[in-house]
Amino acid sequence: MQKIILDCDPGHDDAVALIMAAKHPKIELLGITTSAGNQTVEKTSRNALHLCQHLGLDVPVYKGMRIPMVREQEIADSIHGDTGLDGPVFAPLTRMVEPKHAVQFIIDTILASDGDVTLVPTGPLTNIAMAMRYEPDIVPKIKEIVLMGGAYQLGNWTAAAEFNIYVDAEAAYVVFTSGVPIVMMGLEVTNTVLCTGDTVTRMEKIGNTASKLFADMMHFFLKTNKEVFDMDGGPLHDPVTIAWLIDPSCVTLKEMYTEIEIRSNLCYGRTVCDYFGMTKKPPNSRVAVGIDQEKFWDIVESCLRLY
Ligand code: RIB
Ligand code: CA
Repeated sequence: MQKIILDCDPGHDDAVALIMAAKHPKIELLGITTSAGNQTVEKTSRNALHLCQHLGLDVPVYKGMRIPMVREQEIADSIHGDTGLDGPVFAPLTRMVEPKHAVQFIIDTILASDGDVTLVPTGPLTNIAMAMRYEPDIVPKIKEIVLMGGAYQLGNWTAAAEFNIYVDAEAAYVVFTSGVPIVMMGLEVTNTVLCTGDTVTRMEKIGNTASKLFADMMHFFLKTNKEVFDMDGGPLHDPVTIAWLIDPSCVTLKEMYTEIEIRSNLCYGRTVCDYFGMTKKPPNSRVAVGIDQEKFWDIVESCLRLY
């Protein structure tokens, strides 16, 4: 069983990752920490609480950093809406975030562990980097970081950079230079797992609370991805991290040396991945270069059926 902390900015695709991680028998979800990304951390925290309350999940939620380490906050409301999770209608919220800050929860959990906890960030890396800087003793005790972010080809927030990395590239720089083993699920793979109308129909047929919620979220997510990126579906970026933890055979990884650009105006936030090993620098990441679509969607369906 994989012990994980899901550090997320729900966010429609984060929400699906949370749904998958919370019930799968191969994963022990120790806690949810929230980041500012798709929306403000106030809103991403509310969304995480709504998801847990709606699905009856007994998982603690810890609110994270409100702003990036250096730059001003940017949000992706064009994709996720004003609430950050537009579409579903939730009952009045009764759940509350834990009193402990997300950064402190990450530090306390890692220090108390046997080095067997994986961090799964699916939003900007602010919480992870701040934890590493506040308490460097956690770095050697983090088992692995399995993140959604970056791209070795095209960006999606600028021509050069993917959103999660771009929002706090300095945080990403801290993480990618930390020495912690990294698995990077970048856009080359995550943009290919497109949730289409047929996918929604397939999952809605399951007929339980989680599958209804999936459908309600995806109706909105498909619309905005068509409007913004002219995509014929909604790319389920973040769930690729959880699908890989459940069945590593569904994603093909390639070892690469990856560096984060933090000094260029034009390419700020780019994950510069040395695909061909030109720098001769030792790899610091395993980057996703392929995915078994059928396996991925079967894993998503199997997770929804656990509710
Ligand atoms: O670029 C895609 C990433 O940005 C996903 O994690 C999505 O949720 C947004 O945070
Ligand atoms: Ca996200």
